[in-house]
Amino acid sequence: MPAGEAAVRCRSSAVRAHGGRHSGTGARQAARLRARLAGRLEVVDRLVTLPRSGRRYWILAPAEPDRLLAAAEDDPEQRLPYWTQPWPSGLALADAALARFADLAGRPILELGSGLGVTATAAIEAGAELLATDYSPLALLLCRHNALDNARRAPRTLVADWRARGAELWRRADAAGGFPVILGADILYEEGDIAPLLALVERLLAPDGRLWLAEPGRDPARRFLAALAASGWRDAVEVHDGPWPDGDDDPVRVHTLRRPG
Ligand SMILES: C[S@@+](CC[C@H](N)C(=O)[O-])C[C@H]1O[C@@H](n2cnc3c(N)ncnc32)[C@H](O)[C@@H]1O
Repeated sequence: MPAGEAAVRCRSSAVRAHGGRHSGTGARQAARLRARLAGRLEVVDRLVTLPRSGRRYWILAPAEPDRLLAAAEDDPEQRLPYWTQPWPSGLALADAALARFADLAGRPILELGSGLGVTATAAIEAGAELLATDYSPLALLLCRHNALDNARRAPRTLVADWRARGAELWRRADAAGGFPVILGADILYEEGDIAPLLALVERLLAPDGRLWLAEPGRDPARRFLAALAASGWRDAVEVHDGPWPDGDDDPVRVHTLRRPG
């Protein structure tokens, strides 16, 4: 997804040199993170506009996502870096988080597959006590930076792989009595993730909790939703039409899923 002019713009290096949009502790922490990242990655600031709220975030992102993808193609575990760009589902879920802030404010919220942190930034703005997770440590650094830079507060972060047994994630869920809301934006694009994510959500969601899943109609997401429906889960769907970065025009569905009963 290359950047589309309508919704995403890049900040010039001259503007970048001036740093963040506010001052204070959050800005200093963001500047330190940016310096840490600069040694590891060529980065660029992208201006992302959320379609419904009109909220705009500057999102620090890899300058050359395609090069990172190409470099990962030989990875035997196929951990492809799809975290390198802001996806439409992440923007839609960010808008949902801002609109439904009362469901998030002051509560322990989990995000799976946070990527660059567009949704995480909105959840933090909504007042969530967010735990952002991803299997990419670099993505989580960018996620922290972007939340600090735009919302002045960083989520807690945890490197966690859906396909591995997540003892630390389980411990944190148990400490919270299960997460009342789990967020996931475009996390279902591999067949092999359907079963691990079904098990993970079952394990981590509070008994009366909600899974907020944003997805653009990929087959694995359909199969995941069908499996939940077959177990009696209830689904309320909201359709988000964009406009999205990069001229993508597929609608995104934001599902609010809950257990039967
Ligand atoms: C398509 S991206 C979506 C990123 C972000 N939610 C958004 O909408 O912009 C999928 C995200 O899931 C993460 N991911 C993929 N497989 C994973 C796994 N097995 N465990 C943890 N994270 C994973 C990727 O690193 C990436 O950040």
